[in-house]
Amino acid sequence: MSLAGPPPPSLLERSPYGRMALDLRVEARSRTAIPFPPGDTRFSVTRTQRFARNPLPILLDAYDRHGPVFTLRILHGLVVFVLGPQANHHLLVSNAKNFSWRQGHFSDLLPLLGDGLLTIDGDFHRRSRKIMLPAFHTQRIRESYATIEAETERALPLVRVGETLDLYHWTRELALRIAMRALFGLDPDRSARDVDAAEEFEQALGFYARDYTLQILRGPFTPWARMHRARQRLDALILSEITRRRRTGERGEDILSLLLDAQDEDGSRLSDQHVRDEVMTLLFAGHDTTTSTISFMFYELSRNPDARDRLRDRLAAGDDGGELRRVMDETLRLYPPAWVGPRRSIEAFELCGVRVPGGVPVNYSSWASHRLPDVWEQPDAFRPERFAEGGEVSKLPKGAYVPFGGGSRTCIGMRFGQAEIAVIARALMERFDLDLLPGYHLRTRQMPTIGPVGGLPMRVRAAA
Ligand code: HEM
Repeated sequence: MSLAGPPPPSLLERSPYGRMALDLRVEARSRTAIPFPPGDTRFSVTRTQRFARNPLPILLDAYDRHGPVFTLRILHGLVVFVLGPQANHHLLVSNAKNFSWRQGHFSDLLPLLGDGLLTIDGDFHRRSRKIMLPAFHTQRIRESYATIEAETERALPLVRVGETLDLYHWTRELALRIAMRALFGLDPDRSARDVDAAEEFEQALGFYARDYTLQILRGPFTPWARMHRARQRLDALILSEITRRRRTGERGEDILSLLLDAQDEDGSRLSDQHVRDEVMTLLFAGHDTTTSTISFMFYELSRNPDARDRLRDRLAAGDDGGELRRVMDETLRLYPPAWVGPRRSIEAFELCGVRVPGGVPVNYSSWASHRLPDVWEQPDAFRPERFAEGGEVSKLPKGAYVPFGGGSRTCIGMRFGQAEIAVIARALMERFDLDLLPGYHLRTRQMPTIGPVGGLPMRVRAAA
């Protein structure tokens, strides 16, 4: 028996125009019922453009003027933002049931991902997650190390001393190969079909990096049409692999194998379509996040030679005493790749003394929460020592540090991502010093995750 999923997405869920109509309807209603929290609510093309370019200063400025709960009008619609420890804890843990993922802006992902963990709620989410959790247990992650290490070794010869490396693109290709093997059991060296799957996935994912005004266009020759074609080709590949595995009984170490056989306590299994949606979701959620983290880590290590030397010395000593982990944690504080968590409130609620209506978009942002000057000492400085035992972070309230979200929907791939980042970072650190090019100025984009615009060119030297 297969788990029963949610009904097919309604027009409102499927179409950005449907959601815009819903947002405007909710806004009209709020004029007579509970008003939106204070904020910058007038329509502004400049604000919308600035927000699309870099939301961080806008969010921090609004926090400064309005406090942890405020409203911004982005494009056509009003969005409530909640920032800081108390707000994060409310949204992620203590009142998490009052917020829908599917009805929030994650519904933009439905056309590619379908009903995977990121776009479902309630009992269907809880049961799906339970079925999938064994795939992410420590033992399974340990088994993935071999794949991560083998792929990293294979990619290292492309890093050449004396040359300039685009670290972002190097890592992206590596992370995609790791994901293809660890998730699907596909091996891009083995067959042209497996290469195609990787390329189609990149093509489909590219849609979500486009400007939002381009994403909402429909019709032939639009980014939407290209994404759809890539999705259809990708579906044909994945669904035929699922059918082949079911027919032959062939299984491997990959997560797809595990999902094909997984069941919950009453014997429910995932249907083929559901397996497809979950694998696609994992690929989407795990791909760019690890890539960006590696890029920002080496960006900051290059700007902070003391931190780089300390990490290198500790790695050379055999046991780094957790230094690599602290460097990773601090990188994820400054640049949490999944920087915004979009939801829709179900019922009206009160937070930090502010009333918020039901049925409205409510977002938390780890990125802005990690930079609040009244929570963090020197919020913009790269200081891995904050994460030392008994250090600054250990004294912060719950909800202050949330790069992996929190509560019952904490990132399911957290340990896998951390393992991947650690293996790749260690391999690079042991062999090379990566330096920013003179005059390099970091510009970030944040769709679908935070990343450096145009890659990250770095000069490669042999490790000192
Ligand atoms: C540095 C690496 C990663 C970071 C920073 C990260 C961050 C996050 C965050 C913040 C969320 C919660 C989003 C929200 O509250 O709105 C999340 C959820 C999720 N992540 Fe990750 N992620 C990472 C790696 C991965 C990997 C490697 C995978 C898969 C192999 C993955 C799969 C997922 C899934 C499926 C969810 C949804 C979980 C649920 O709702 O039950 N992530 N991730």
